[in-house]
Amino acid sequence: MELMDLESYNAREISDGVYWVGARDWNQRLFDALIPLPQGTTYNAYLVKGEQKTALVDTVRPGFEEELESRIGQVAELASLDYIVMNHAEPDHAGSIPHIMAKNESAVLVTTKKGAEMASVQYGVPAERTQVVKDGDTIPLGGKTLRFIEAPWLHWPETMFTYVEEDGVLFPCDFLGLHTAHGFYDDEVEELIPFAKRYFGEIMMPFRKMGVKALEKIDGLDVKIIAPSHGPVHRNPDRILSAYRQWVSGETKEKVIVVYVSMWNSTEAMIKTMVETLFSEGIEVNLFRLPDADIGDIARELVDSRGIVLGTPAVLGGMHPVALYATHLVKALRPPLKYGVVLSSHGWSGGAVKQAAEVLGPTKIEVLGAVDIKGPPGPDDEREIVELGKQLAAKIKQGGE
Ligand SMILES: Cc1cc2nc3c(=O)[nH]c(=O)nc-3n(C[C@H](O)[C@H](O)[C@H](O)COP(=O)(O)O)c2cc1C
Ligand SMILES: [Fe+2]
Ligand SMILES: [Fe+2]
Repeated sequence: MELMDLESYNAREISDGVYWVGARDWNQRLFDALIPLPQGTTYNAYLVKGEQKTALVDTVRPGFEEELESRIGQVAELASLDYIVMNHAEPDHAGSIPHIMAKNESAVLVTTKKGAEMASVQYGVPAERTQVVKDGDTIPLGGKTLRFIEAPWLHWPETMFTYVEEDGVLFPCDFLGLHTAHGFYDDEVEELIPFAKRYFGEIMMPFRKMGVKALEKIDGLDVKIIAPSHGPVHRNPDRILSAYRQWVSGETKEKVIVVYVSMWNSTEAMIKTMVETLFSEGIEVNLFRLPDADIGDIARELVDSRGIVLGTPAVLGGMHPVALYATHLVKALRPPLKYGVVLSSHGWSGGAVKQAAEVLGPTKIEVLGAVDIKGPPGPDDEREIVELGKQLAAKIKQGGE
């Protein structure tokens, strides 16, 4: 194979003197042992070459160190790097820091105060090789200036963004990213927004308020390129920024997400009646049957759904364990949902609705009601479900912002 054929695997210049040197993980199918990755992901690292100094921005997941090293080698001497910027301490971006710091014994790790603590604990980076930066601090590289923007909780408490002032290139690490190994630029990824929304739901939704603050900080910058650490480089920054503005706002639509599990179809029959009712009331419905539903798709729909319908049979005195897991995720992801209803079928003494109420109790979701029946639904049960469905639809249409 000619070297030319490998171009897409090589370091790529995304702006004058700014290079992508990361890694593509086509085959990874699960992230954080939780999130499905239908199209794999990337660990984007970048090299910024100034006239005097060179900085590496983030690294890659352990296992990809050699790829990172070889791509850095295409544009700079690894041993001559001056700075390693750690925007985030999670191993998918920081896990190769020990490898790089062993090969280059003089480069300094640049990170936030919390980042320095984490780099010490997780990667054994000594204080004498760490430079702590605060919001607004800058490091000149010669013709290029790195500016640091504290952006905590996007995705961990230590996170920050790095900005190349002269080129308008923003490195927000996890923020504004998406999981796909396809395409290099945003306009080369057909499913850009759905994939970004899914990622937002999974990773950023619990930290919407921090996202609002970070976007306000970015607003003051002349951003030309957004180069996150997962997925494509955004050379059309407005597209992802306007989507994020909407998602962090917590604005909901006339949408209901239905998540259910059914062993012998009684709960499923209840769900069908509910879904038909919501449809006939003109509500958008997105339905997910557990356990094979993709958690990422559920997270995506949670981003702007106004209502949720949970369906679960009673199992061992409580919810079906898979429904309990999904309900826990709904609670932990802190979606902007306003209203919920619970549907359950049981064989003898039930217990699922009580447990659902316990899990959802501390959330901001107002549970409008529950239908809990023995066995499959009969005509009276159906009428009750239709009534509850109409009540939910009315609340959804009222807004509730
Ligand atoms: C493994 C298992 C455990 C169950 N545990 C309970 C229980 O603790 N309490 C109860 O009332 N019913 C229990 N049931 C009965 C189911 O809740 C009941 O059959 C229900 O109608 C099933 O709904 P589905 O058709 O939607 O799966 C259990 C059933 C199974 C298969
Ligand atoms: Fe992360
Ligand atoms: Fe990440």
